[in-house]
Amino acid sequence: MNITITKTTTPKQKPDESALGFGKIFTDHMFMMDYSKETGWTNARIVPFENLSIHPASTVLHYGSEIFEGLKAYRRVDSKVQLFRPIENIRRMNRSAERLCLPELPEEETLEALLKFVEVEQDWTPYSEGTSLYLRPFLFGNDESLGVHAVSNATFIIIASPVGSYYAEGINPVKIMIEDEDVRAVRGGTGYAKCGGNYAASNRAGERAAQQGYSQVLWLDGVERKYIEEVGAMNVMFKIDGEIVTPMLSGSILPGITRMSCLEVLRKEGYKVSERLLSIDELEEAMEKGTLEEAWGCGTAAVISPIGELCYKGKKYAVNNGEIGETTQHLYDTLTGIQWGKIADEFGWIVEL
Ligand code: PLP
Ligand code: COI
Repeated sequence: MNITITKTTTPKQKPDESALGFGKIFTDHMFMMDYSKETGWTNARIVPFENLSIHPASTVLHYGSEIFEGLKAYRRVDSKVQLFRPIENIRRMNRSAERLCLPELPEEETLEALLKFVEVEQDWTPYSEGTSLYLRPFLFGNDESLGVHAVSNATFIIIASPVGSYYAEGINPVKIMIEDEDVRAVRGGTGYAKCGGNYAASNRAGERAAQQGYSQVLWLDGVERKYIEEVGAMNVMFKIDGEIVTPMLSGSILPGITRMSCLEVLRKEGYKVSERLLSIDELEEAMEKGTLEEAWGCGTAAVISPIGELCYKGKKYAVNNGEIGETTQHLYDTLTGIQWGKIADEFGWIVEL
């Protein structure tokens, strides 16, 4: 892929790494390319970060044809920068594109473009413990007409943001509300795709939970409201009576790359792991009986996030006395160890710049 690079003439000052938060600060450049049905993907370019100019009838503004990804570049102790399983994000983006009738990306060339972009922005990868450079590729339909159909024009962009932890709690356990009213996705819908609309539709429940002091909601399935699905921005895992249980990929939850990585680590180490249906009744029984030993969420932004309290229909259950559990800590140490290059990557997940 031929990528033209135009450097900014007004580079911004790097932020204070002790107060990064999540997704509030953006780097100096962005990667862009354009798609049309006639020409395919063209005009790959790295340009100064700036506002976009979009036709008021652009498809994305009316019908929500937008998909995105999230991955991170990590600063190693030797100062080099590396990425974690980036090809998986590109593959998932293509599965999302197929679902939304958006054009798919050429895998290898897109990886090459992503690495080039990170190389240009690498100085923005922060050095402090627990920080990283969050990469947000997104792709949207950009026809200048109001007809409802698959688009003939699209835009693909990658922006980058130096980040700290996603939750204000950091590695401390978060409180999660089990949602029994709204649903996030149904089988046959867009649950497995990373499309903006899924997140827009989840905000109402998220706001209700936040008003009661909860960080996010845990969704139940959209048909019976009976089976555990996932949390707003992460997949979820439980340790029940020694067994690690995570909801199977039913089509309505996002196939998380962190989820997949946790499962691979746990299986390699001989843990008893099952991907299966987990009903709220089974979970409640485990919470009542005290056999729910640990619960955690996993995701790129959230990393491994211990869950210290679950609330369902007004009833509050402390998990592991509100403390981080042994398996949760072990997964956190292993994944972040590989991501920040502190421990050897036996899995072949790391891509160095
Ligand atoms: N589930 C949802 C709804 C998410 O937004 C995310 C974050 O990307 C995840 C799960 C975790 O996916 P991953 O581990 O690939 O970041
Ligand atoms: C991620 O973990 O990359 C996400 O996309 C989660 C979220 C901020 C939507």
